[in-house]
Parts: sequence; C-alpha cells; structure tokens
Amino acid sequence: MDLPWGDPRSNKFATSIGLITSNGPHGHDIMACEWTHHLSYRPGLIAVSLGPTKATVENIRTLKEFGINLCATDQTILASVAGGYSGRDYDKINALKDLGFQFYQADTIDVLMVRGASLSVECKLFKEVKFGDHVMLIGEVSEAIHDSEKESLIYNNGKYWSLQEIDKPHKDTRQNIRDILKKHSKHSQQ
Ligand SMILES: Cc1cc2nc3c(=O)[nH]c(=O)nc-3n(C[C@H](O)[C@H](O)[C@H](O)COP(=O)(O)O)c2cc1C
Repeated sequence: MDLPWGDPRSNKFATSIGLITSNGPHGHDIMACEWTHHLSYRPGLIAVSLGPTKATVENIRTLKEFGINLCATDQTILASVAGGYSGRDYDKINALKDLGFQFYQADTIDVLMVRGASLSVECKLFKEVKFGDHVMLIGEVSEAIHDSEKESLIYNNGKYWSLQEIDKPHKDTRQNIRDILKKHSKHSQQ
C-alpha cells in the first residue's frame, strides 16, 4: 500500500530538517529535506531522500558532493524558502542573502554552507540508491562542524517545533525493568 504525503499516518514522524546545499547545472542551490538520516559512524555516512525531479538531485549527480546543514530553531524562514521554491526557477541563495541569511564556502567541497545551522556537514557522494518514488543519496562526511548554542528545528505534522526534554524512567523504575528483564533472559544465570 502507499503512505502518501500529507496522510495523517505519514505525519506522525518527527524529523530534523536538512538544508541541502549543492552546486552544478542549476548554480548554487539549497533545498529542505526532512528525510535526512545519519546512517553510519565509521565512516560517517548520512542519507538524504529526494524526489528525483528536484534541481538538487541534478546538481549532486553532476558535482558528486553536497552540504547538509541542520536547520536551527531560529531559521524557519530558511526552511520555508528552501522547501517552497525550486532552484530551477529561483536563485534561492541570493534571495536568502537578501532576507539576511549568510553562507560561507565549504572547506572540502565546492558548495556553500549555511551560517548558523546547528550542524554543518560537508559530504562527498558515496552511493545513490533508487527506491519507490525517491532516490537516496548517501554522503560520506568530509567535514562536520556543530554549534553548541543552536538547537535543531523539528518537523512534525507539517509544522515546525522545538525539542523539549522529557525525563527518562526513574531509577526505581529502571531497577524494576532490569529485574524483570533478568527473569526473561535467554541465557542461563551463572
Ligand atoms: C519542511 C520541508 C521538508 C521537505 N522535505 C523534503 C524531503 O525530505 N525530500 C524531498 O524530496 N523534498 C522535500 N521537501 C520539498 C523540497 O524542499 C522542495 O521541493 C524544493 O523546492 C526542492 O528544491 P530544488 O528543486 O531547488 O532542489 C521539503 C519541503 C519542506 C518545506
């Protein structure tokens, strides 16, 4: 069965928003990508799932490198512009500069990065995997800088949110969990 865009079941996922920066036939571009996932620690691999018609996909296929900038809570305008217009039709980078946002040249790739993101990762294209109606572009991390003052913006149910910490189970509850798990262990107790 399908799980379409906007379906209340699809809307249950909560994600961060990757601002994917690229360069290529469409010039410097930026798009919003809720489907941005950390896949591996060693080496650092991050996947982005993109609709195949996005200008960003053509850019990444050409240059074989891209930036992933996790949108911070004070960057909702960035997410809406990057996600609401295509680089086929608009120079979003210069529009965003006019809106007061700043970009800087990446160290290891020929792509612009977003100033003030919670995490900025430079990636070389590691693999492209086609599935369903999206393509997964996996990037190998070549540089990563985080800003400890910034929190990542959260996306859920088509809206922007900020994180709120919830207490882990109380230590008595955790002890009770350990006792119960011990009772159900699949290995004999020595
Ligand atoms: C919050 C948000 C999240 C989005 N997430 C994705 C995504 O995960 N994958 C995708 O293909 N498009 C996603 N989009 C839509 C693209 O960002 C949008 O189509 C954009 O215009 C593509 O830009 P480009 O054509 O310049 O590459 C999202 C849009 C918004 C507003």
